[in-house]
Amino acid sequence: MKKLAVFASGEGTNFEAIARACTDGVLAAEVVLLVCDKPGAPVVEKAVRLGIDTFVFSPRDYADKAAFETEIVRALDARKVDLVCLAGYMRIIGDTLLGAYAGRMVNIHPSLLPAFRGAHAVEQAVAYGVKVYGITVHWVSPELDGGKIIAQRAFEYDGNDPAEVHRLGQQIEHVLYVETIAKLIQ
Ligand code: GAR
Repeated sequence: MKKLAVFASGEGTNFEAIARACTDGVLAAEVVLLVCDKPGAPVVEKAVRLGIDTFVFSPRDYADKAAFETEIVRALDARKVDLVCLAGYMRIIGDTLLGAYAGRMVNIHPSLLPAFRGAHAVEQAVAYGVKVYGITVHWVSPELDGGKIIAQRAFEYDGNDPAEVHRLGQQIEHVLYVETIAKLIQ
């Protein structure tokens, strides 16, 4: 049974999809930790409801990124985490965490990388007027959204409503992320 940690900052719909895939036996894994940098984010409540340990912190309580990432690495090591899954963790991973978990850390991003990197990928893609959108799962590297691509899935949308693109994209994310994690932990 592989041990997963999920990092999220917001709603946590991907977190929940991964956690439920584990409890339903779809994934031969267990989510042993949620890491969240936003106290009060809805994902925290979801973890508590599912009985999953949390490490919730406010970055401003620490001197710098290295300080809170040192705590995160400690929490991951203590639980012998095999794979870290970033799922809407809206923070750039620093050297401390990358140094410890490079090659064991994946991210899901709401665009067909290398197009539209960064925090507002969907809004950028809609503003650009693209007709084919998509989702990417990739390894985390020092370059923002620049790590090696593991899986992608595209969908067509001919409109200008970012909320609709997010909705369509998330339906794909929940399936694609679980499928990709399943392959990685095999
Ligand atoms: C997801 O759509 C994910 O692709 C995106 O944040 C959302 C989190 O949703 N990530 C990024 O934009 C990373 N640059 P969730 O909290 O409901 O899983």
